[in-house]
Amino acid sequence: MTGIFYFSSTGNSLYIAKKIKERLQGDIIYIPNYKEDETQKFDRIIIVSPIYSFGLPVQTYDLFSKLPQNVKTYVVLNYGGMAGGACSMALELAQKYNLNIRGIYKIKMPENYTLFIPPPNLYNKMSLNSAEKKTERVIKAIGRDVLHLPKNRVKSHKLYYSNKPNWYLIAKDFSVTDDCTACGKCVQICPSKNIVLNKGEVQFKDKCTACLGCYHRCPQKAIIYKGRKKKHRYINPYINENDIGKNFDK
Ligand SMILES: Cc1cc2nc3c(=O)[nH]c(=O)nc-3n(C[C@H](O)[C@H](O)[C@H](O)COP(=O)(O)O)c2cc1C
Repeated sequence: MTGIFYFSSTGNSLYIAKKIKERLQGDIIYIPNYKEDETQKFDRIIIVSPIYSFGLPVQTYDLFSKLPQNVKTYVVLNYGGMAGGACSMALELAQKYNLNIRGIYKIKMPENYTLFIPPPNLYNKMSLNSAEKKTERVIKAIGRDVLHLPKNRVKSHKLYYSNKPNWYLIAKDFSVTDDCTACGKCVQICPSKNIVLNKGEVQFKDKCTACLGCYHRCPQKAIIYKGRKKKHRYINPYINENDIGKNFDK
């Protein structure tokens, strides 16, 4: 059985994970839900993750050390425009933990780091169209077990490692407008349990991993960054937003 492990805050990675499940079958597991003893049932593991800061989200990064060594493993990364050294980082982690790494792929998707400048809708549409085709090619290659590893090591890790300890600081610039209905959605979806409701007031703590899920998925668009009331939010249009964060094992 194939284990498709994904991390996602706005649905791009879940979209890819679902396509993989359609074609290759298997269980989809949201990485923050993962329990280590579950991997024993898998004879193939596929990790699907966004790229953060030219590297990997904390959740994906930490997963590598928990995977079994003897199982064929593939990594499918997706990114908004500049992948940097993320594929090399995935290879280094796989080698560090002696994983049986067979393939590392990257697929360009719509950007969700849009706190400052949102990309035009047409650009996102074009990204989604080409991502669909690339996803099919990647799935075929994984299905055939083609060996596909980065040849040239790209070194942008220095920036990643210097930024990583400070990612939690992004939450200090989030605030909530009067549109907040205290529905608790942000509390429920936060993968690092960084948000609490205190007497009906949303509070951000110090464990943020900068995924921006709360920002994009608040039903009222009430979470804002640095006081700017921007209208743009992104959720992958082919995904049911409520499915992000769920496992799919049927
Ligand atoms: C904190 C953060 C950092 C990001 N860093 C990068 C990056 O370095 N390069 C890039 O091309 N995209 C970057 N992105 C964009 C995402 O990788 C991209 O939009 C991805 O498809 C989102 O996947 P998801 O919808 O599954 O969360 C970043 C997004 C976030 C939230």
